[in-house]
Parts: sequence; C-alpha cells; structure tokens
Amino acid sequence: MPPTNDIPRHIAIIMDGNGRWANARGLPRRDGHRAGAESVRNAVETCRQLDVDFLTLYAFSSENWKRPQKEIDALMKLLERFLREKLPELLQQNVRFQTIGKLDMLPGKCRQQIHKAETDTRNNTGLTLILALSYGSREEITDAARALATRAAAGEIDPADIDTDLFSRHLYTANTPDPDLLIRTSGELRISNFLLWQISYSEIVISPKYWPDFRDADLRAAVDEYARRHRRFGTV
Ligand code: IPE
Ligand code: IPE
Ligand code: MG
Repeated sequence: MPPTNDIPRHIAIIMDGNGRWANARGLPRRDGHRAGAESVRNAVETCRQLDVDFLTLYAFSSENWKRPQKEIDALMKLLERFLREKLPELLQQNVRFQTIGKLDMLPGKCRQQIHKAETDTRNNTGLTLILALSYGSREEITDAARALATRAAAGEIDPADIDTDLFSRHLYTANTPDPDLLIRTSGELRISNFLLWQISYSEIVISPKYWPDFRDADLRAAVDEYARRHRRFGTV
C-alpha cells in the first residue's frame, strides 16, 4: 500500500555539488567532500526527528571510479574516517547502517569499517541509513537478471514465475521499500544511474543548493513539498 501520511517512509538523496561548492570558494574539491560529510550528519539527524524509516544516500557511483585517482583516494579516506568517527553516534542514535553497491571494489580499510558499522548496528531499530557505494543501478539490475537466470538454469525457479516482486527481491534493495521521495541537490535534472527500478513512482524534488549547503531547513522544505504532492500511482 502506498504511504498515506505526509512523512515519506523512505527518502533517497543524490548528494551532488561538493566539487562546485569548493570551487566557488577557491578550495580543493576534497574540502567540498569534507563539508558534504557534515550535511550527511545533518540529514541523518533531521530524518530521525521526522521519524523517517529509511534514508538512502548516493555517496559514490560506479561511474565515479573514472575520476582522478587523487580524488578517489580522498573520498575513500573520508569515507573510512567518517564511518569510524560516526559509529558511536549511530549506535547511540539507534541507527541501523547498511550499504548497497559493489563493495569489493573499495579499499580493504573501507570495507573493514563498513563491515564493522553494519555488524555493530544490525540490531538497531531506529532509522535505517543506507549508503550507496560503488553503486550503479544498471549493474544492480544486471546482477539480478544474472541471479535469476542462474536459478532458472539450475531448475530452482520456473522462468514463468519471474514477476516484478520476484525481480525486486533479487535487487540489492530486496528488504527495503521503494523511495517515496527522491531529492537531488545542485540543480542537475538527471538520475545518474541511481535506483532506476526503485524510483518508478517516487516524488522528485530538485534543490538548487550544493550538497554542503543542503541542511535541516532544506530537507524539511523538500518533505513539505512532498506532502503537498498528490501521488496517483497510475490511478485517477
Ligand atoms: C557529489 O559531488 C559527490 C560525489 C559524486 C562523490 P561532486 O563531486 O559530484 O561535485 P560536483 O558535481 O562536481 O560539483
Ligand atoms: C551522482 O553525481 C553520483 C553521486 C552523487 C554519488 P555525479 O556528479 O557523479 O553525477 P553526474 O556526473 O553529474 O551525472
Ligand atoms: Mg557531481
């Protein structure tokens, strides 16, 4: 059933504009990413206050591996430090931490930190924070198709039984409801390979602000806009 209240159960955010934020200040791009980490902290806090159940943040795409190695290294270092420093807070806030994406591409140190954060918070019952890391939606859909084909070839499932429900259950997001609200910052009007399947009926809000400037009031304004929308899901 579609949610009927005004608070989205699941918010997904394409956190964009860190580089331009830094550039506008004559700073290196990595300073933009650092400032963006503060906005992540902020978004988690606001979602907790609003009683949102799931927050998915697009932190690093499959395509972001094509960036200069120096920037990738800085991002990975930042990610590892963020998780290390943030873990006590996540535990104290009853946040459950999860990830989606091709994690085996990440440096070992990052993977260890991710594994620890996921394990230590797995029994928390508050907000579920999902970081999309080395994530690409086309890759995710291809992986699901391969998994289903493998199961069919092994005789475990009948190809005739493959429907949208079964397909969904083979995506990285198998246990997560689809996003109700998708936000992209920095004014770009594109999806950039994010949750293509899952956002079929999400409400989209584009903010002109760069991600490091996107804070509590901006997220609340996006949720207010969501509440004013009339979701029809194809009906009249
Ligand atoms: C978003 O900011 C963070 C990542 C994609 C890792 P960008 O780094 O894309 O910043 P812009 O879009 O170049 O300003
Ligand atoms: C999308 O931002 C990916 C993340 C926010 C992690 P990009 O900056 O990589 O997207 P494009 O290149 O503008 O489409
Ligand atoms: Mg960008």
